[in-house]
Parts: sequence; structure tokens; C-alpha cells
Amino acid sequence: MIKVLFVCLGNICRSPLGEAIFRHKIKERGLDKFFKIGSRGTANYHVGDNADPRSIAVAKSMGIAMDHCVSQITDRDLDDYDYIAAMDRSNLHNVLRLSKNQKHRARVFLMRDYDPEGKGLEVPDPYYGDARHFKEVYDILDRSTDKFLDHLQQTESMLRQT
Ligand code: 4NP
Repeated sequence: MIKVLFVCLGNICRSPLGEAIFRHKIKERGLDKFFKIGSRGTANYHVGDNADPRSIAVAKSMGIAMDHCVSQITDRDLDDYDYIAAMDRSNLHNVLRLSKNQKHRARVFLMRDYDPEGKGLEVPDPYYGDARHFKEVYDILDRSTDKFLDHLQQTESMLRQT
């Protein structure tokens, strides 16, 4: 099982959308049985809530359903998940603060490290924005997820057998 966790600040806008897009794409590629996927916030502001209605709306407009319950990251997640994709540098820093060893630290990266149009940039926080900002986040996550999945298919032996 390959375990992938998406992390943002509130776990209502970016990381649940990243999780939903990733779920959709692994199903399309016939790879869903190989994955455990989750998303978390570094903050606890919205624990127990659904995703932001604007994330749900943009996903729906692209044919992707979202079913979400907000949760906050803990140090156990760094033991559990193999790939931990942070949406921005602040999230990355906060996840690294929970890490206890080099193995943990090697698991954490910026989602846009896989963006062919903006490698190493941040996924902008759309919370104080409008539908256009949510669509921009969607587009960034959509193309970054394609490249991230290509990378996993090239490097994870479990996926190369398919
Ligand atoms: P997210 O967006 O980190 O993409 O879920 C935010 C959600 C909530 C807040 C900020 C950003 N907030 O300040 O409550």
C-alpha cells in the first residue's frame, strides 16, 4: 500500500481538493487498490467540518465528488504516510516541526514540486478569494497530480507491474 497525505492550513480548501483530485485520477488509471489517501490541516480551526463549499463546487463542476471531514495532522501521520504533500511553505515548515527523524523529513515535499508550470511555487491560499481563485487552485492541483502520479508509476515497483 502506498500512503499519500495532502496537507494545508485549515483542511477545508486546498488539501481536501487535492485529495479528491488524486482519488479521481488513481481510479481513472486503475490504481486505486494500491493507495491509502488522506488530507489534514496543520491548524485545528475547522476540525469536524465539511470541505469549503467553494472547493466542493469547483470539484463538482469538473465531475469530481467530495466527501470530507476535517482533521488535524499529528506526529503519527508522519509514521503512517509515505508521501506528505504540503500546499505551501508554511504548511511544509509546520509538518517538519512534527518530524522526529530523517525518515519523516524525507517524506515531506511541496505539491508544486510536481507542477510543470511552477515547480517549487506554493499552492495559493484561496480562503479569502473567490471562485476564480478556487479554479486556479484546482488547475494547479490537477496538473501537479498528473506529474506526481507519473513519478509514482515510474518509481514505485508495485505500480510498475500494472
Ligand atoms: P486551506 O485554506 O488551508 O486551503 O484549507 C484555509 C482555510 C481556513 C483558513 C485559512 C486558510 N482560516 O483561517 O480559517
